[in-house]
Amino acid sequence: MAEQNTENFIKVRLHSLDSKEPIPFDLYVSINQKLIHYLRAGDSLTKEKLAKFENKAPDSFFVRTEDRPAFKKYVHQNLNSKKFNPLEKAIMLRESSLTLVEELFESPDIQNALVETKEIVQQFVALMGSEPEAMAHLIGLSSHDFYTYTHSLDVGIYCLGLSQVLGFDSAALIEMGQGALFHDIGKRQVSVDIICKDGPLNDVEWAQMQKHPQYGLVILTEHKATEAIKACCFEHHESVAGNGYPQQLQAHEIHPMAKIVALADTFDALTTQRSYNKPMKPSAALEFMRTKLAGRYDDAMLRAMYAVLFKMEDKVRP
Ligand SMILES: [Fe+2]
Ligand SMILES: [Fe+2]
Repeated sequence: MAEQNTENFIKVRLHSLDSKEPIPFDLYVSINQKLIHYLRAGDSLTKEKLAKFENKAPDSFFVRTEDRPAFKKYVHQNLNSKKFNPLEKAIMLRESSLTLVEELFESPDIQNALVETKEIVQQFVALMGSEPEAMAHLIGLSSHDFYTYTHSLDVGIYCLGLSQVLGFDSAALIEMGQGALFHDIGKRQVSVDIICKDGPLNDVEWAQMQKHPQYGLVILTEHKATEAIKACCFEHHESVAGNGYPQQLQAHEIHPMAKIVALADTFDALTTQRSYNKPMKPSAALEFMRTKLAGRYDDAMLRAMYAVLFKMEDKVRP
């Protein structure tokens, strides 16, 4: 059965699906721009079946939109099952969240996106609670290519790790995670040519890019996001040294969650492959932020980042 378009489908990534258990919804695959029915609900996505793809198995499958609740329930059950180890759970959660975050960046329905991201972050917080090792795996899985949605998800993961070390309670962790996922939502209003440009931006392009915190604030205010979520978006390019943008806020004026996003955001940018720069190793990136970018980030938060990444609580630098 061939379908012409993906309008009534959601994309799900291969690694958010498990090969051992039956899949409780139909799966479709895109071949030559057509969706082909691939797996019947109740069948298993076995390694043998995947090996039959002519080249290699696709990165993603499609699921009917009406099966979205079944997909979410399936992920939720796997995350709470004893059959999977913390690494397998971290992979499933990251992979299933990536498609939701990708949708959120493309969907015009921000109100729904705010609800959906709350569910995603709740799953991350629950996994951090039930499997303490999962955070280390999630950090290890950070992708090192830059797309706004993988970037936003990885910044969200770093922010959750950091705010956990800093002692946030679960309500604050959820707001933190949501704020981080939305920090660059204003980039929706910046031209794709600028976002995807291979190389440094010229002055005009840079001025346009620097407007994304304001654009994001307008979007989030319209949809009644909380003050903390709005601050994560509007203040994440401020600097503790007072020379950030757009408002040149002083350290005490910047929302603590926005300070966390600022740190995680720079760390992710430095450790990510972009066509015009080589990614740094995590330790080199933190060292760069501590020395070359001295004064821009909150000291205690920078030390906490060492703890998150290297479990170096006892050996953190002065
Ligand atoms: Fe940004
Ligand atoms: Fe960012």
